[in-house]
Amino acid sequence: MSVYYTTQTLRIAIESEKALNKSIGFVPTMGALHEGHLALVKKALSEVDTVIVSIFVNPTQFNNKADLEKYPRMLNKDIDFLGKNEKILIFAPEYSEVYPKDDSFVKIELNNLDEILEGKYRPGHFQGVLHVVRNLFQIVQPNKAYFGLKDFQQVVIIKKMVDFLKFPIEIVACPTLREKSGLAMSSRNLRLTDNQKNEALIIFQTLNYLKELKLKYAPQEAKKRAIEYFNSGFLSLEYLEIVDDTSLQKLDEFWTKNSTCCIAAVCGEVRLIDNIQI
Ligand code: PAF
Repeated sequence: MSVYYTTQTLRIAIESEKALNKSIGFVPTMGALHEGHLALVKKALSEVDTVIVSIFVNPTQFNNKADLEKYPRMLNKDIDFLGKNEKILIFAPEYSEVYPKDDSFVKIELNNLDEILEGKYRPGHFQGVLHVVRNLFQIVQPNKAYFGLKDFQQVVIIKKMVDFLKFPIEIVACPTLREKSGLAMSSRNLRLTDNQKNEALIIFQTLNYLKELKLKYAPQEAKKRAIEYFNSGFLSLEYLEIVDDTSLQKLDEFWTKNSTCCIAAVCGEVRLIDNIQI
């Protein structure tokens, strides 16, 4: 397994793979890798010949400076974690490799999809994600790119960008990986104490409770009851919303065929998100 620190050296490696007719998969990450990332890499390895894993903590998607500073960074550990596999190429660039001086990015119009749910609480977050993902896509030029559904809204928005920019890249959405307890795997979990991890289970419990509520109540009433249940725990809720999977619009009176419940909450000093299709 090789590690590339510059766009130029990575491009040379990718070109030689392409010259051998190899298909390229891409798993963009911000590092602090866990089993959830590994599942994306394994899925990619089962579908393409060569997998590029990028490790880059992207400043433009953090609206909170302290959050960016506290984001865990552990490149050497991440490289070891990915193991020895010659089909995996790691890209660990500096800021200037991803955002060169002549870089420009025009805000992508998303008809408010980037301003609701996560976007409401993290202004500018999704345009920052789109900016870095667009730049990384231009560097890697993969056939397929793999994203986890824990960041459900991110997946919806990235698919929109790929359609809008007509990138010939298939976006593969992969299920959320959970600890045995049900806690969604996240690099942020590293900042939770064991006690906080226990308290954070209220998120998954509420999501499951919503499945039951769906059988009896309209979305609006189910949401009200789910919030009451959530508030019996110790976390501070930012939002709990039931939305249509495609439009991300809130459901009030009627359930649609595919609906998802999304939760964001703060546990200690750590902001956690999770969702479940109900
Ligand atoms: O999901 C993430 O880890 C990040 O948002 C991504 C896609 C790697 C962009 O920085």
